[in-house]
Formats: sequence, structure tokens, C-alpha cells
Amino acid sequence: MSVAVVAGMQWGDEGKGKIVDLLAEKADVVARYQGGHNAGHTIFYRGKQFVLHLIPSGIFHENKLCVIGNGVVIDPQALIQEMDLLREAGLDFEDRLVISDRANIILPYHCTSDKSRESGGKFQKIGTTGRGIGPSYADKIARVGIRMCDLKNETWLKEILRATYDEKKVIIRSLYNHDLPPFDAVFTELMEVRDTLLRFVGDTHVLLQEQIRSGKNILCEGAQGTMLDVDHGTYPFVTSSNASAGGACTGLGIPPTQIDRVVGVIKAYTTRVGEGPFPTELKDGCGEMLREQGHEFGATTGRPRRCGWFDAVVARYAIRLNGIDAMVLTKIDVLDKFDTIRVCTGYRDGDRVYQDVPADPHILERCQPVYIEFKGWKENTIGIDSIDKLPANAGKYIEELSRLLEVPFLMVSTGPEREQTIRLGSLF
Ligand code: GDP
Ligand code: IMO
Ligand code: MG
Repeated sequence: MSVAVVAGMQWGDEGKGKIVDLLAEKADVVARYQGGHNAGHTIFYRGKQFVLHLIPSGIFHENKLCVIGNGVVIDPQALIQEMDLLREAGLDFEDRLVISDRANIILPYHCTSDKSRESGGKFQKIGTTGRGIGPSYADKIARVGIRMCDLKNETWLKEILRATYDEKKVIIRSLYNHDLPPFDAVFTELMEVRDTLLRFVGDTHVLLQEQIRSGKNILCEGAQGTMLDVDHGTYPFVTSSNASAGGACTGLGIPPTQIDRVVGVIKAYTTRVGEGPFPTELKDGCGEMLREQGHEFGATTGRPRRCGWFDAVVARYAIRLNGIDAMVLTKIDVLDKFDTIRVCTGYRDGDRVYQDVPADPHILERCQPVYIEFKGWKENTIGIDSIDKLPANAGKYIEELSRLLEVPFLMVSTGPEREQTIRLGSLF
């Protein structure tokens, strides 16, 4: 029996979807612990590309139990759409998808607040996905959220929704000059999806504890990445949940003493979507080349991702913060065409060189990355599945990264599909 957490080590989109799908082969349960449909996890299944937003990336393995934890915020329409898409692909998950009865629901006023705040010009723009994620987590913390279990009792649901709706209506009207859909429409929409959702709702903490007790392997799947973590990321340019490994404890109800391993997924370079500091960002042709070669466009919003070199300061920070004992390096093939590859080992700000990520976004914004250089390999690595077959310089790059970070690689990914992977160790 083992419980492992898989977390992103950068600003999201590290390739977690592909890696969780692969690691799920030997797991019994895959459980998503935070985030919402702001996430976009790309997986190739039977030659077709799927982008999952809420459903755990283990769903393509027919016998795996998939759990959406209490830490996730759920947009009912988004979830139902995703379920329909999977059904159309011939996937059967009716008896193996369980949604936590404690998970909070994203409501139309959350999206209105999110979008209005971002477009209003009055507030700090974060570059959110506009999916209502921040406002719904804010309501959860303010104890005015609506949870999955609330759907069970119509009278109670109407009562609590009414109180919150009336408050939001006034706030949204006076702050952003926007109207909400009428209360009856919001309530009726919830009632319409109620039965579809309730079929899948259960006490996922109890379920996971039973699975752990009976010796099963549990894979906890994080969305986003460490640098987008609300506590430890580049605040305020973060998402509104704990994307780092600690989020698995609160977001699934698995105590820290039951977590055995933490795997970090990291790209061979760096990307971020939205606003906020990004020390190794490349605003030149190299950045363009990374975007082009890596197809770096958001899986959820289609926005072009900002691209830059590998940042070992971020990687070390993520390793410490998450307790990462094995890493997966993805998208090494994207570097195939570069003459020189750079890795940032520190941030220079005047006379000072930071070895750690400073909390102050102004420092992060103005600091200059200190780089070491690697010779490129200028050969095709797409689809290589054995470390011996890699060009010598690619092997050196991987070895140096592991030495620099003092953590071994479990896998190296050389393409988006399952078999395009070099396996160096096993998790369970
Ligand atoms: P996630 O949010 O961490 O699951 O990552 P995304 O799915 O948003 O973005 C990763 C993108 O890179 C997707 O389009 C994947 O299909 C693709 N991908 C994953 N691993 C590799 C790889 O090793 N090489 C290449 N070229 N693409 C990859
Ligand atoms: P996956 O799981 C990359 C970013 C948004 C924005 C910030 C806040 O696919 O790695 P939000 O809508 O969450 O309030 O936006 O976080 N963001 C992501 N960036 N990958 C993601 O998820 C992201 N989810 C949110 O672009 O900068
Ligand atoms: Mg993504």
C-alpha cells in the first residue's frame, strides 16, 4: 500500500495529465485534491487527445476508482459536459467516479465576479481563466459556499442560496454595474443538475480511508503548480488554492502521516499563463521558438503561454516545499533545436544573489537571472523511450539537472503520448 502525491513544480501545465495517466497504471485510486475547471490536463487515449478539467487523469484506465476531493471547486455544467465527452468516447465510469459531498460548487455569480474584477480596470489584473475559481474559494473561506451535500435538501438549498444570492446581487451591481440572472433561474439550474450529480456524490474521506486500510495504491493529483499556490506561489499572481503537495491532505482528508511519496512534474523549460513575475521569461525569438516547438497555448483558454528557460531556483523551492523525492522531466524534445540551453541558478538584485524565491513580487519582477549554459543536442528526441538512445548532450542536460537539484528522475517525457516516455524507476 502506498499514497503518492503528484504536484506541478512550476506555474502549471508541466504535463501532469500525461504523467498521472501513466502512473495510474499501477494505482488503484486517482484522487484530485484542488483547483477547478481552470485546470486543463491533456491526455492521449487511443490516439485521440482529451483535455480533462475536473475529472481525475486516471479515468482512462477502465478499472481505476477516480475521486474528486473536497478541496476541488465544481462547476456543475463543466463537470457534466466533461462526463458527456468521456461517455461519447465510450468510457464507462458510472461506478468508479466519486465526488466529495464536501466539495464547493461554483455558481454563476462567481464567474460574474471573476470576469468583472479582471476587466474592470479598478483592480489588480491576475489574468485568471475567468472560471469563477477565486470567488468560489473566497466564499468557501467566508463560509457562505454551497456544497455538494447541500443539493440533497431542496428547502435548505433554497434558503442558503437565497441569502448568498441577495448579497452578491447588491455587491455585483454596485461594484461592477452588472446584473445577475434572476434567482429562480440560478436555483432551477441547480435543481436540474442535482440528480445527475448526486448519483456520484459520496463521503470521499471515508472511502479513501477504506482504500488505504485495504492496502490499495492511491495517487493524489494536483492541478496548477507550486508557483501558483495561494500561500507559497507568486502572490497575488496565483490561483486560489493550495496546489502544492500539502493541499492533498486538506483537499482529500488524507492525514500527512499517510503520505509516502511526493512526485514533482517539471518541464525542461518554464511557462506561465496570465500576469505576474517570471524571472527567466524570454521575450525574444527564443521564447517564440519554445512556444512554437512546445505548442504552448493554454489547454483551457487557448491563450499563448509565456515561455522561458528552466529555473532551478523555482525547482529547488518546489522540491523543499513539497518534499519531492522523485521528479518527472517533461517536454525535453522541445529543446531539440536549440544551440544553447540555459538554466537559471540564482536571481541577482543589485549586489545580492537570491538562491531562494523572495516573497516580494517587486524583487521577482526586477531581478536578473544568473545562468549556466548547456550545449544543445540538435537532434530529434521525440518518442525516445530509453535513456541510452538519447543524444549525449540531452543525457548530460538531464543528469546535470538531477545533480543540481539532488533529486532523481522517475521518468523523462519525450512526447505527449504514453509510449513517448523514458522510464527510470517505479513509484508503487
Ligand atoms: P498539465 O496541465 O500539467 O496537465 O499540462 P497541459 O496538458 O496543460 O500541457 C502540457 C502539454 O504538453 C499538452 O499539450 C501535452 O499533450 C503536451 N506534452 C506533455 N508531455 C510532453 C512531452 O514530453 N513532449 C511534448 N512535446 N509535449 C508534451
Ligand atoms: P493546470 O492544472 C496554468 C493561472 C491563470 C492565472 C492564475 C489565476 O492545467 O496546470 P484562476 O482562474 O485560477 O483564478 O487564475 O492561475 N492558472 C493556470 N495556469 N495551468 C493551470 O492549470 C492554471 N490554472 C490557473 O492563468 O494566471
Ligand atoms: Mg494545463
